[in-house]
Amino acid sequence: MILALETSCDETAAAVVKRNGEGVAVLSSVVASQIDLHRLTGGVVPDVASREHVRQTVPVVGQALDVAGIAPGDVDAIAISNRPGLLPALIVGVETAKALAFAWNKPVIPTHHIAGHIFANWINERAPEFPCLALVVSGGHTELVWMETRGVFRTVGQTLDDAAGEAFDKVGRLLGLPYPGGPEISRVAQNGDPHRFKFPRALLAPKTNLDFSFSGLKTSVLYHIGKRACSPQEVEDIAASFQEAVVSVLVEKTARALERFHLKSVVLSGGVAANQTLRARLRDRVQSEGAEFFVPEISYCTDNAAMIGAAALLVGEPTRDYASVQAVAREPLG
Ligand code: KG4
Ligand code: ZN
Repeated sequence: MILALETSCDETAAAVVKRNGEGVAVLSSVVASQIDLHRLTGGVVPDVASREHVRQTVPVVGQALDVAGIAPGDVDAIAISNRPGLLPALIVGVETAKALAFAWNKPVIPTHHIAGHIFANWINERAPEFPCLALVVSGGHTELVWMETRGVFRTVGQTLDDAAGEAFDKVGRLLGLPYPGGPEISRVAQNGDPHRFKFPRALLAPKTNLDFSFSGLKTSVLYHIGKRACSPQEVEDIAASFQEAVVSVLVEKTARALERFHLKSVVLSGGVAANQTLRARLRDRVQSEGAEFFVPEISYCTDNAAMIGAAALLVGEPTRDYASVQAVAREPLG
């Protein structure tokens, strides 16, 4: 039984998870979102996020235990998302987890946030088989991670500039949509024409290249809009055409990786995995290449603590050396 905490960005989250065969069962997953607060500034201000985590962390942990119907004595270990992320935000969760672990005499499992996003796919009745490729697309990350076996991560492609979610958020701002832009763009894109504007797709030569670049796409949308006020129809068409450009690159790069590595399954995760167009298009392409496709339910795509508990359960290393567990702003996975 693992109590997990997540405070790396703008969600304060706690969850209780336990082993369920090859996968993970969630007994509770509580997320206190700060989105309304960050909408005021159009993005996350780290110190503002940190103060909000200070306010929310202890109540959210209490709720997670209550909903799971367990007491601290039932917990075997405390998992904490300690890297990477916004340092002032991470520190709140890390120090809370260590304090609880010390008081309750439990081990701590320091957990990589991206491993959490990946293992959100194990919150499932059936677990993905290895070798497995993960496409992680969030506000801070765009990565293709190859896992020959469980717990061995090799990053085989990553963004050279903006993350996919960051591009959604920046283009959302250009279109005058509220923060965060990702869900807003996918909402207005439903009524738009994805082929009206041909925005650039940075596929990067040669054909074996698995890296991403989204800053040119964002700049192209910026030049396209210029100083004009766009009509509602044009906003919808720009949103749809932009989304089409991002999704087609993500699908194409994943397909290239499928050609290159022997894979049994492909898992999609991270906040941008909530995007319905991406979910559907990647599923079709992966299945047509003969691999199994997995994507978490929407609530486990954006930041949550159940995914941190899942990664801790499946690949974590418990420790009682509390001083060794530190918040780390940047650290690659594998
Ligand atoms: O994983 P996440 O909650 O936090 C990070 O670790 O970054 O991802 C948040 C990102 C934001 O950039 C948000 O705009 C994007 O995920 N996002 C979406 C959608 N829902 C959230 N992007 C595209 N379409 C969506 N439906
Ligand atoms: Zn995340």
